[in-house]
Amino acid sequence: MYTGLLHLHSFLRWVILVLALVAIYKSYVGMTSGKPFTAGDKKTGLFLMIAAHITLLIGIYQWVVGPWGLQNIENMGFGEVMKDRVARFYAVEHLTGMLIAIILITIGRGVSKKAIPDVVKHKKTFWFFLVALLIILVSIPWPFRTGIARPWF
Ligand code: HEM
Repeated sequence: MYTGLLHLHSFLRWVILVLALVAIYKSYVGMTSGKPFTAGDKKTGLFLMIAAHITLLIGIYQWVVGPWGLQNIENMGFGEVMKDRVARFYAVEHLTGMLIAIILITIGRGVSKKAIPDVVKHKKTFWFFLVALLIILVSIPWPFRTGIARPWF
């Protein structure tokens, strides 16, 4: 089960990246050309948030049960984990970065429910999702990242 969930966690990154790009593009076009904030825009944000929250739940499970989170801290001690680049990445940096990004996505999605002008909705959504996307991009253990590298899928 652990391996299956790890694959799902890994695959969901692509769903999140695609949805974030679509949402950012839509809000950019919306704010620059004064388009209304449509039900479609709302749905893109909702699906992005759902994908991020499922990834978060699987991530918490992996962190608590798997070898790279809590277990590593218990085995090595927090001080040693912080000194080891790879252990620190999975036990602290990946979790912290992704948590911040998911909070930003959740706030960004909440903007669509507020009673504010559509152009402001587009603007706020754009910035929340853009910053979240950048944090996600630097927090993913891409195959080209030495030491922490993981497969594309
Ligand atoms: C947007 C959110 C997230 C994305 C896109 C993401 C992405 C990834 C990717 C691509 C991997 C490598 C998977 C593989 O080896 O094939 C990974 C591993 C991992 N992630 Fe995340 N992650 C996210 C959130 C989180 C969160 C919030 C946590 C912790 C609470 C977490 C904990 C972990 C752990 C512990 C591993 C290593 C698991 C293992 O190898 O046994 N992730 N993540």
